[in-house]
Amino acid sequence: MSQTKHPVVIANWKMNPATQNEAKTIAKATVAIAKKNTHATVVACVPHIYIAEVKKTTGQGPLLVGAQNCHVDVKGAYTGEHAAMQIKDAGGNYVIVGHSERRKMGEGNELIAKKMLAATVAKLSPILCVGEEVRDTQGNFLTMIETQVVTALSALPKSRLKDVIIAYEPIWAIGTGATATVADVEEMQMFIKKVLTKQFDRTIARHVRIVYGGSVNADNARELFTGSGVDGFLVGGASLKPVDFGKIVSATK
Ligand code: 13P
Repeated sequence: MSQTKHPVVIANWKMNPATQNEAKTIAKATVAIAKKNTHATVVACVPHIYIAEVKKTTGQGPLLVGAQNCHVDVKGAYTGEHAAMQIKDAGGNYVIVGHSERRKMGEGNELIAKKMLAATVAKLSPILCVGEEVRDTQGNFLTMIETQVVTALSALPKSRLKDVIIAYEPIWAIGTGATATVADVEEMQMFIKKVLTKQFDRTIARHVRIVYGGSVNADNARELFTGSGVDGFLVGGASLKPVDFGKIVSATK
C-alpha cells in the first residue's frame, strides 16, 4: 500500500520523564531525529509543564510541540486545567484529545467534541484518539469507533477538518506489547475513511490523516506503516527512547 501524504509521527510522553533535565535531553535527541527525517512531520506531545522548555530546545526547528489535553473553555476558574489558547501561546501546535487514558478518567464523546472545537479555535491541530477496549467477533467495536469519530467531529466547521489527525489506538494494544495486525490496522483506517465520507465527503476523508498507536516499536514500525496505509504513528513508551523513536520515524520513509 503506498502513502501519498506527508507522514506524521507523534510522540506521546504521557506523564514522563520525571525531571526537566531528562525532558531537555530527550527533546534535544528528538529535535535531531526531526532534522534527519524531513520526509515526516515529527511532533512531541509533552506534559504541559515542559512545553515551553521543549519549544525553546527546538526553536524554529522542525520538531513541533503539542500537549496531551486541553480544557473546553478559554479561561476561568478551572483549577489545574489548561486552555487550548494557553498551549498555543506556550509554543504548542498540536493537542491530543480523547486519549483512552483520559476517557478512563471519565471523558465522554460529548466533552471530547467540545475539546476538539476548543483546540481548532485556538489554531491547534487536534489529534483525536479512538479505539476499542476489545474486538468482539460480531464487529460491534466498529459501531463504537464510528460513534467516537462522528461525535468528536460533529461540532467542527468543515473548514477546520483539514487540521485533524485521527489516531486509531486499540486500548488492548496500549503499553501491552500486543499490536494490532497489519490487516486490522488497514481495515480500521479504511473504515474510518468510510465514516468520514459518510459524515462529510470524500475530499475530507482523503485529507484527514489517520495514524496508528499501540505498542509501536523499532521492530514493527516498518511493516505496520508500509502494509496498512496509515499516515504515521502515535507512539507512547518508545518515544522516550530516542534511538527507538528515531527508527520508528525512519520507518515511515
Ligand atoms: P504505547 O506506545 O506505549 O503502547 O502507547 C501508545 C499510546 O497510548 C500513545 O498515545
